[in-house]
Amino acid sequence: MTQRSNTVFVACAAFVLATAVATGWTQPAAAGKGARVDKTKFGTTKDGQAVDLYTLTNANGIVARVMTYGALLTELHVPDRTGQMADVVLGFKTLEAYEGGHPYFGATIGRVANRIAKGKFRLEGREYTLATNNGPNHLHGGVRGFDKRVWRAQTVPATGGAAVKFTYTSADMEEGYPGTLTATVVYTLTNSNELRFDYTATTDKATPINLTNHSYFNLAGDGAGTILGHELMIMADRFTPVDDTLIPTGEIAGVRGTVMDFNRSTPIGARIAQVPGPAPGGYDHNYVLTHGGGVLAMSATVREPSSGRVLDVLTSEPGVQLYTGNFLDGTLTGKAGVAYTQHSGFCLETQHFPDAINHPNFPSVVLQPGKTFKSTTVYRFSAR
Ligand code: GLA
Repeated sequence: MTQRSNTVFVACAAFVLATAVATGWTQPAAAGKGARVDKTKFGTTKDGQAVDLYTLTNANGIVARVMTYGALLTELHVPDRTGQMADVVLGFKTLEAYEGGHPYFGATIGRVANRIAKGKFRLEGREYTLATNNGPNHLHGGVRGFDKRVWRAQTVPATGGAAVKFTYTSADMEEGYPGTLTATVVYTLTNSNELRFDYTATTDKATPINLTNHSYFNLAGDGAGTILGHELMIMADRFTPVDDTLIPTGEIAGVRGTVMDFNRSTPIGARIAQVPGPAPGGYDHNYVLTHGGGVLAMSATVREPSSGRVLDVLTSEPGVQLYTGNFLDGTLTGKAGVAYTQHSGFCLETQHFPDAINHPNFPSVVLQPGKTFKSTTVYRFSAR
């Protein structure tokens, strides 16, 4: 490098650094080409904790925003087949709205996603009692699950994308669960238009664990009506039937020839009125993925016909909960100023099966000390 270019380089570097300090944004040295991470303040919780918002931008201009409260995806802007961007996840503009209560929009769910019957389980000879925050059952980690905690965050190197790592340490007996558990989730927005979630957890006592992301999607855009016209394919031959309180009966039943069958791409609304189960109706079921879990594999595809936006779901989990926003009743108004009525969004929550801790025939959710829980899910976007 010549003396002059050296000076220019140093001056540029100093300018970039000064700008970074002034605006509060940070760029990890190893972020993929054209990708970056910006950090801003999102708000302060009612109990005085500062909450940051991380904006991940990839080389193609796709933007994902994740806040430290709930390690929660607040926005995700992806293009349609003409390049038009839209925010395709449900959520709010302010922290106050999130703290006001909502059905897990965009949140990281733990310590155990989905339901545990009557909030009770036995593990290593002891009975544990958790909060029953969903009728007679425990749901999504309890009264104050991981979705309502402020996570620590740091940008991490990512080749071919931008990444932020969130960490939360859950105390022994928090929400009734045994063991001090440290959970991490790395959100990576890749230059291949994937939003990737890599989860890990370690514990000092045996404990159940089941982590997921609870984003509600509307591929036509947040606030753009119902998702009933979205075409869905789930690569699953079987599902776990539930009782009236949405607890699996323990049976693993076939889907072929029933309204549960999404092996061929079918509009979500085509048979939704015939889905058996408690009112208000719709899909709220765990599919047993044909690939069986353990390695990251294609699991589901959703296409919205008017925009052409496509979401592919890949996961290393053995199951996925299809939830069609059945309980949305118009009382919450989202970012676009539109009330969220029934079926305004759908979720594909990758997971171990609901109430697995009470079903020896389901894949185990028990994490032992000395072992590391690992799980990966990818939401991949395209348009056609
Ligand atoms: C999960 C459950 C649903 C519902 C939503 C949140 O997906 O399976 O029954 O509780 O969360 O409203």
